[in-house]
Amino acid sequence: MEILNADSTGVERAVRILKNGGLVAFPTETVYGLGCDVFNEDAVKRLFEVKKRPRSKPLIVGVSDMDEVHEIAEVNRDAERLMNAFFPGPLTIVFKKRRNIPDIVTGGSDKVAVRMPDHEVPLKLIEKLGKPIVVPSANITGRPSPMSYTHVIEDIGDKIDAVIVGECSVGIESTIVDVTTKPARVLRLGAVRVDDLRKHLDVVLETWKREVYFVSCPVYLFLGSNAVDRILEFASKSRDKGLKVAVIAKKDIFENTIVVGTTLKEYSANIFNAVRKAESMKPDLIVIEGPDVEHEGLMDRLYRLAGERVFKT
Ligand code: TXA
Ligand code: MG
Repeated sequence: MEILNADSTGVERAVRILKNGGLVAFPTETVYGLGCDVFNEDAVKRLFEVKKRPRSKPLIVGVSDMDEVHEIAEVNRDAERLMNAFFPGPLTIVFKKRRNIPDIVTGGSDKVAVRMPDHEVPLKLIEKLGKPIVVPSANITGRPSPMSYTHVIEDIGDKIDAVIVGECSVGIESTIVDVTTKPARVLRLGAVRVDDLRKHLDVVLETWKREVYFVSCPVYLFLGSNAVDRILEFASKSRDKGLKVAVIAKKDIFENTIVVGTTLKEYSANIFNAVRKAESMKPDLIVIEGPDVEHEGLMDRLYRLAGERVFKT
């Protein structure tokens, strides 16, 4: 596996690998993505295997300009409104697909999910390749998304062809909205708030069962104004029982605290990295202090980390 810089030499090398049917991981504005040529079915098959992803779960297709969207999808008025407002950016739109998109990409569905990343690296890869690439998160299925190239290497480094070094700034995956129905339906909460979608389009929330992430030890989430006090109490008691505790909090409040910051932006950008850092300490449990500002995409990811272990204080 090659580690490439995000400069023109690195991007050119990555494009060559993609042309040859290879798999390349790269930063996007949300989280690290794992890409291959969307029209190369062997490469797409291999990507499903690397991610240990069930074939029924479709892949998002990444584009670098509006024309590409029209080439692979049927764009209606609702879609156009959202594209004008949010492309490029952390919104994925589900369209009726055109026939050129292989069935394996969409898990056999007649719909295709498309997004235009707001990040120079994937935009250049797509532009220079001259066609779309798939842009799933670069984790093994069930794990939190990677935010750094080192985490990608830890998880799948031996199974992919290259990783491009760079930064993800948002930290929460794209919001997904299906515009093939009226009203449009939000299929996944994410970086774009539902209220912001509603400024452009009437949308309803699809109900779904939240999948819990696989984390190496139990995760406890404390929300509300007394979270710090409750965490200190809980963490001290656990420590007294001989358990190793890792704490993820807005500020340094306990031994082994990983600080994620107080603003929503900092908190979101740091949370997935913090969980992996906490895991690397090999604790018996991880305790997380919730954020101050309510953001449904971020809260969804925290609930996926904690499962049932959520405490409102
Ligand atoms: O921010 C993101 O979207 C990141 C970056 C790397 O692009 N990607 C990402 O991909 O989160 P992934 O594979 O981890 O999640 C894609 C989600 C899955 O839940 C999948 O079911 C849904 O998108 N999806 C993909 N194609 C779809 C389709 N045709 N219809 C409905 N849902 C679809
Ligand atoms: Mg994912």
